[in-house]
Amino acid sequence: MSVKEIFETMDYGPAPESAAEALAWLVDQGDRFGHFINGAFTTPGEGFDSRNPATGEVLATLSQATQDDVDAAVAAARSAQPKWEQLGGAGRARYLYAIARLLQKHSRLFAVLESLDNGKPIRESRDIDIPLAQRHFYYHAGMAQLKDSELPEAQALGVCGQIIPWNFPLLMLAWKIAPALAMGNTVVLKPAEYTSLTAMLFADICQQAGVPKGVVNIVTGDGAVGEMIVAAEVDKIAFTGSTAVGRRIREATAGSGKELTLELGGKSAYVVFDDADIDSAIEGLVDAIWFNQGQVCCAGSRLLVQEGIADRFYDKLRARMDGLRIGNPLDKCIDVGAVVDPVQLQTIQTMVENNTAGEMHQVSCVMPENGCYYPPTLITGLETSDPLMQEEIFGPVLVASTFRTPAEAVELANNTRYGLAATVWTENVNLALDIAPKLVAGVVWINATNLFDAAAGFGGVRESGFGREGGWEGLTAYTKPKGTPKALAPVEAVSGEGAPHDPLDRTAKMYVGGKQARPDSGYSRAIWGKSGLLGHVGLGSRKDVRNAVEAAAGAKGWAKATGHLRAQILYYIGENLSARADEFAHRIDAMTGKKGGAKEVETSIQRLFSAAAWADKYDGQVHGVPIRGVALAMKEPTGVIGALCADEAPLLGLVSVMAPAIAMGNRVVLAASEPYPLAATDFYQILATSDVPAGVVNILTGVHADLAKPLASHLNVDAVWSFSSTNLSAQIEKAAAGNLKRTWVNNATATDWSVDHSKRFLQAATEIKNIWVPYGE
Ligand code: NAI
Repeated sequence: MSVKEIFETMDYGPAPESAAEALAWLVDQGDRFGHFINGAFTTPGEGFDSRNPATGEVLATLSQATQDDVDAAVAAARSAQPKWEQLGGAGRARYLYAIARLLQKHSRLFAVLESLDNGKPIRESRDIDIPLAQRHFYYHAGMAQLKDSELPEAQALGVCGQIIPWNFPLLMLAWKIAPALAMGNTVVLKPAEYTSLTAMLFADICQQAGVPKGVVNIVTGDGAVGEMIVAAEVDKIAFTGSTAVGRRIREATAGSGKELTLELGGKSAYVVFDDADIDSAIEGLVDAIWFNQGQVCCAGSRLLVQEGIADRFYDKLRARMDGLRIGNPLDKCIDVGAVVDPVQLQTIQTMVENNTAGEMHQVSCVMPENGCYYPPTLITGLETSDPLMQEEIFGPVLVASTFRTPAEAVELANNTRYGLAATVWTENVNLALDIAPKLVAGVVWINATNLFDAAAGFGGVRESGFGREGGWEGLTAYTKPKGTPKALAPVEAVSGEGAPHDPLDRTAKMYVGGKQARPDSGYSRAIWGKSGLLGHVGLGSRKDVRNAVEAAAGAKGWAKATGHLRAQILYYIGENLSARADEFAHRIDAMTGKKGGAKEVETSIQRLFSAAAWADKYDGQVHGVPIRGVALAMKEPTGVIGALCADEAPLLGLVSVMAPAIAMGNRVVLAASEPYPLAATDFYQILATSDVPAGVVNILTGVHADLAKPLASHLNVDAVWSFSSTNLSAQIEKAAAGNLKRTWVNNATATDWSVDHSKRFLQAATEIKNIWVPYGE
């Protein structure tokens, strides 16, 4: 375009960023990369090309890691880990800070390399990806510094396997590596096969920063390498990518004892009310769905507009779309660059071509002739059930529908299997703050969109995965409590052989929806004490689990009850238990044949009081994020929690799980101690007289192995915990992969119930939702 043409059309002229430095760096590396293992680059092996999606040109050749490479990387990370942890928080902080400084120093090189490799506009890599990656290292240098004083009870997990996607290559690397290193872990990271180059440059930076050998290891390759890392001797897998692969990783790691966090897909709602500042909301959409060609897990890809303004809004939106500039990612005037790879382009094309519903608008500008480009697209008039309203497209395609009332907006927004993010536009602060907590999502932006910061945790609920990245909450994903776990031996019921029979039928029923319930199986089991038959309990089965979950799901009101009310009810349970303490103590002694009953009852009462105390104090935070505004980190109940209670502590095990869970507004389905269930069945008499609303606590009896799978596979259960002495970890984690529910399983290790672990339980019983609220001029 000539200067004359620019003057005549008033159009933007090209303003290309030079690729020379980045290409020269690739040449310096020989255009071929090995892996970064134990502080050095390996000799390049069999590999694959990394191409510039805007031109199709080969940028470099990367090596496909072999099993030996992965083993070497894990071994290097393993041997480096103890020393790295012993360096102490302040020692590690120095390295993280050095990395941050070097990222800053080389930021232009990183930005250009990222845009060349990924196809994203240089404006984005320069102003968003790279600065946010630096920020993450600075922030976590601070976290390392504070670790020893603020998290003295936490220790590193060990070696973390980290698998990242191609949409924010360096930023996702920073999100994974910075917190892991800050807490004293070492890592083996695999970048996505389309976009490994900035990870290689990062390895170079680690060398320059003098990061000790083996602390950071980077292996390249495709999903097969990812599978090798998942199967390796690592202590944790952190994954960001598609829900399908996340689910496979959940299944593959089931029962292994490996920690797991998954940051998966989304179909995030973008809700525009009729009083919104329409122009801002439209500009927001440019950032929501055309940012990074829509290849953003939290993209505002599902527009919901209030009916009265829909036509006007769509007209303005189409006009704005037609002004978007699409082309060479290295051109600083470009809004939309290239899609990452022909494979991804094909996926987008196929999904849109298969859609016959609604009305489609695609931008009318001239598209580049070559390269992986897809025109920004809007499809209006879709129904909730249309596939494009439900499936993640991961491209620059916005789908839209309308709503009439705020209640309908919430219902439509939540009508998805995902729960990553949501955006709300309205000038009415009451409406915004009423809607935000009702949206099922890990992040909500009010009158803004796609804001990120290291101080505000990011992550989802439902099939968007579990775990948070960033903030204090992100650190829990890289730490565990200090100490070495002890093995938990199976606890056997007292045998009744030879003891006298009591002809009286004392069959304790289960407790479902606030009522006593007979087991669906019609079968029961005798519970013996040393002195004879103590009674019978029902053998719960799938049907009983379903009834209990239905009751729990129905008791939604509990989540909205105030902490103050929940505290009062917990105190009341404690008081009522106290009044019958002797009776419970005798019952426990009779079942276990030991003399610990009185102590167990007393500790249970304390546990109830402790949960009551926390009910109105386990608060969220207000994060000082770098916008004019705040991010409110709100703690929300997880939902319906199914728990297999400890066998060895028939009352205390149940109370220790139940009390913090319901204190936070969850509803629970509890499988009583398998060998000693009568304390639990006696306990519901206490619940029934303590104003606990029906359905909040449901108690089942029977064989844990029979109850675990129906609980873990039930779609209305949000989390499953197991403290059973039967090792059901593999079974539970595998079944939980269906709807990616949260799990907390003991992997046959013991919990010391005499210690108050309430904080850990409170944490497991809550999800953090970050609500971003900009304010001011
Ligand atoms: P993907 O989930 O297959 O790839 C992400 C990472 O996982 C890559 O590093 C890949 O090599 C690795 N991987 C693949 N299979 C694996 C396995 N079995 N075990 C361990 N690691 C494995 O994503 P893909 O195929 O590149 O994109 C497909 C769709 O996934 C996209 O269209 C989009 O819908 C979604 N996606 C979502 C992302 C997010 O941030 N939530 C990021 C990337 C893709």
